[in-house]
Amino acid sequence: MTMLIRDAEPGDWPAMWAFMKPIIEAAETYPWPPDTTEEWARAYWIERPEPASRLVAEIDGRIAGTVEIHPNLPGQGAHVANAGFMVDPAFGGRGLGRALGEAAIERAARDGFHAMQFNAVVETNERAVQLWHSLGFETLAVIPDGFRHPVRGLVGMHLMYRLLKL
Ligand SMILES: CC(C)(COP(=O)(O)OP(=O)(O)OC[C@H]1O[C@@H](n2cnc3c(N)ncnc32)[C@H](O)[C@@H]1OP(=O)(O)O)[C@@H](O)C(=O)NCCC(=O)NCCS
Repeated sequence: MTMLIRDAEPGDWPAMWAFMKPIIEAAETYPWPPDTTEEWARAYWIERPEPASRLVAEIDGRIAGTVEIHPNLPGQGAHVANAGFMVDPAFGGRGLGRALGEAAIERAARDGFHAMQFNAVVETNERAVQLWHSLGFETLAVIPDGFRHPVRGLVGMHLMYRLLKL
């Protein structure tokens, strides 16, 4: 298995959307409406101006995961990055999430961000919670009942933070 992480190119979008759409529709990990349109997702994920950036992970030449990085807030909060991750479940558990996390930390630091913040890590998403903790993110707070899970009902959402000084 060969893994490659590189900047996304516009032509990558159809392959990205193929696994992003079911993740969004499942509504178990992302606080986005399950009927989010492709147009909205595309604008959010790959069309923001710099300093936003987006990477894809390829497994044996096939796009299997992606991360997008953007300022968490405008203006005086723009030195803190926010990032979103999605890995094709068909390629889950093979280290792509970890590799994308490490790449995002490195890219955001290189782009001059001071820290990275995750606003909404759903507490039932144990894989993600554990992964981000192992990459140096600290849970600052759990927002009680912050996420309406389609199966588990109201569950907490972790607010996570990590300085980017390497
Ligand atoms: C969260 C996500 C990015 C992880 O991607 P991945 O490629 O499966 O992650 P990895 O293979 O790197 O595994 C990450 C860790 O989770 C662990 N893990 C795997 N399955 C697990 C499970 N069912 N429960 C808990 N931990 C699990 C792995 O052992 C690994 O830890 P390690 O590196 O210490 O061994 C991916 O599942 C995903 O895209 N989910 C849907 C969208 C999402 O949740 N995005 C993040 C929102 S904060």
